[in-house]
Amino acid sequence: MTDTAKEPQASNAMWGGRFAAGPDAIMEAINASIGFDQRLYAQDIRGSRAHAAMLAAQGIIGDSDAKAIREGLLTVLSEIEAGNFPFRTALEDIHMNVEARLKEIIGEPAGRLHTARSRNDQVATDFRLWVRDQADAAISGLEALIRACLGQAEAGADWVMPGFTHLQTAQPVTWGHHMMAYVEMFARDKSRFVDARRRMNECPLGAAALAGTGFAIDRHATAAALGFDRPMANSLDAVSDRDFALEFLSAAAICAVHLSRLAEELVIWSSAQFRFVAMSDKWSTGSSIMPQKRNPDAAELIRAKIGRILGSTVALFTVMKGLPLAYSKDMQEDKEQVFDAADNLMLSLAAMEGMLRDLTVNRDKLLAAASSGFSTATDLADWLVREAGLPFRDAHHVTGSLVAMAEAKGCDLPDLTLADMQSVHTAINDSVFAVLGVHNSVASRQSYGGTAPDQVRAQIARWKEALA
Ligand code: ARG
Repeated sequence: MTDTAKEPQASNAMWGGRFAAGPDAIMEAINASIGFDQRLYAQDIRGSRAHAAMLAAQGIIGDSDAKAIREGLLTVLSEIEAGNFPFRTALEDIHMNVEARLKEIIGEPAGRLHTARSRNDQVATDFRLWVRDQADAAISGLEALIRACLGQAEAGADWVMPGFTHLQTAQPVTWGHHMMAYVEMFARDKSRFVDARRRMNECPLGAAALAGTGFAIDRHATAAALGFDRPMANSLDAVSDRDFALEFLSAAAICAVHLSRLAEELVIWSSAQFRFVAMSDKWSTGSSIMPQKRNPDAAELIRAKIGRILGSTVALFTVMKGLPLAYSKDMQEDKEQVFDAADNLMLSLAAMEGMLRDLTVNRDKLLAAASSGFSTATDLADWLVREAGLPFRDAHHVTGSLVAMAEAKGCDLPDLTLADMQSVHTAINDSVFAVLGVHNSVASRQSYGGTAPDQVRAQIARWKEALA
């Protein structure tokens, strides 16, 4: 779809009645949105067809005019989809481009379409329909991603890996538990899109310019025809708020934060220093100079996308802030932000899902890493509390001394001898060695939501049922 050259004309064909001269070329350039809002063509035509049907049903226009309009709009739709629609900058936006072309195709009846309607309620309706579709796309993209996380979790419900705080080895956890943490995050992300979709599903059409209309329109009929739950109840609000777009962007930004954290973990885990995972060839790139490289570019790009998605969110918040009611042209700046954020969110969701599905996890590396770094020090302290009756603070101190001893000897906690241990605290006996193993450590964390494989499997089952 290309923008055709500007045609010379005295004034705008759609609203130029009172104008003697056409706009300055720069005025036309700053004013036009057709370069980007042509993405709303399907929603615009759908809305216009519903409006025309309603006008005829209410006896506001004739049946034959409505029929000509509705059929002509389908011709316009097929021209756009075939890529041979003449988009014209002089006609500003998608709404006037479609209507002007309709006039060329069907003649006089086209002029009746804009009865009891304004571009203000028209654009609000088109954009809501578009954002609603994107909320649906985000919801299904998230569902697919959640399934991919569940697949990883199920495979490795009992694979022991180091859990980190401060990116320092903290306590052993399981791979399944780690994957299920993202299931929780992505499920909340999904619920935010579900909520936003429900709130946005009201129809602005028929609010007209700002005050409603004197024509006996049926706003409930157009709302129903367009799949909305109801018409918006205040015409000023209908044409002037973009909170549905702000909510979509906010939900997208939070989701992009979650995606960036998992992306960062994949970057770290696939590095030569970790080797916890190997990215498949499908999701890696090579270096043009260093033959050994396998770069996790997709993960890095997902990690970066939050920058532009949050940027779009901040941009639209800033545009909307302080705007007096009702419509102002500032609001034309809403679309590119949402288009860009939506495109990049959908791409990120799909890429993350693909990477997870094709990911190879190195169980042995996970286990080896979990078994080093004194990851069971807390288990030792807990044992001293349980079996030797020490207050936790004292147990913490004793364990700290044992860690220092192991560090000095260059070994891990389970490698210390019983004599070594008893030199620090006499109450320690042979049974302590059982809790120093990482498998026992994770198996013992049976508290609700804990990392014990039984707990993890119970959560996997719960989510699989919820998604079924
Ligand atoms: N292109 C405009 C937009 O995106 C459509 C609404 C124009 N309304 C107006 N009163 N000039 O906001």
